Amino acid sequence: MRILCMGDVVGDEGVRSLSEGRALSRLRDGLRADLVIVNGENAAPTNGISADAARILFDAGADVITGGNHSWRRRDVYTLLDDRPAMLRPANYPDSAPGHGSCVVTASGQRVLVMNLIGCVFMEPVASPFTTADAVLAAYKGQYDLAVVDIHAEATSEKLALARYLDGRVHVVFGTHTHVATADEQILPGGTGYVTDLGMCGSHAGVLGVAAEPILHKFLVKTPVQFTPAVGEVAVHGVLFEIRNGRCVSAQRVT
Ligand SMILES: [Fe+2]
Ligand SMILES: [Fe+2]
Repeated sequence: MRILCMGDVVGDEGVRSLSEGRALSRLRDGLRADLVIVNGENAAPTNGISADAARILFDAGADVITGGNHSWRRRDVYTLLDDRPAMLRPANYPDSAPGHGSCVVTASGQRVLVMNLIGCVFMEPVASPFTTADAVLAAYKGQYDLAVVDIHAEATSEKLALARYLDGRVHVVFGTHTHVATADEQILPGGTGYVTDLGMCGSHAGVLGVAAEPILHKFLVKTPVQFTPAVGEVAVHGVLFEIRNGRCVSAQRVT
């Protein structure tokens, strides 16, 4: 089982980076991926994910779209969050928030549980991703063959700690949210594949997908400013995990 996980899709440039010229489909075919998971929380033009952007990403070859702190920014996506099983938002937000945080998809005859969690360090004080992961795994007991976790978080320590906590109980833990790919892809002792952050699909010309000028204004002048998307220098970042006999055997960065 080969699972391709792609980092936060940012804006129109990010969506196009995966959809134009069948880019994601070709990447999927070239890597012989059985399952593709894309973090889409910033896929709308300014922020959040719109229903249109989500549909384009599904059509482009994403089997599951995960989310994060920006999942609810666009109200037009709420119906999709509620109704489409493979459209996820973090599971440890309140149950009353639209959507759901986990699903089971079938790939190459195997049932894959995909769980989306969000960190608590330097982020909204939501339920613990640690205990929520336990609860989700217990709820799906006997209903899945492999389990994959997207931990959408700011703190590298929280992501790695969660991966250590889940080592041997899930097959992959990947981090998202920072938009910066980390070089620590590894197999943990219990057989769980891990990377702290997948990186970003979109323009790398600015600052984390946003044009540099307004970001510099924010840092230098400190008064409110309208962010605009970065343009150009488009790249896609992700990690391909291979799982054999219940263990992750390789984690390979894709750029
Ligand atoms: Fe993001
Ligand atoms: Fe985020």
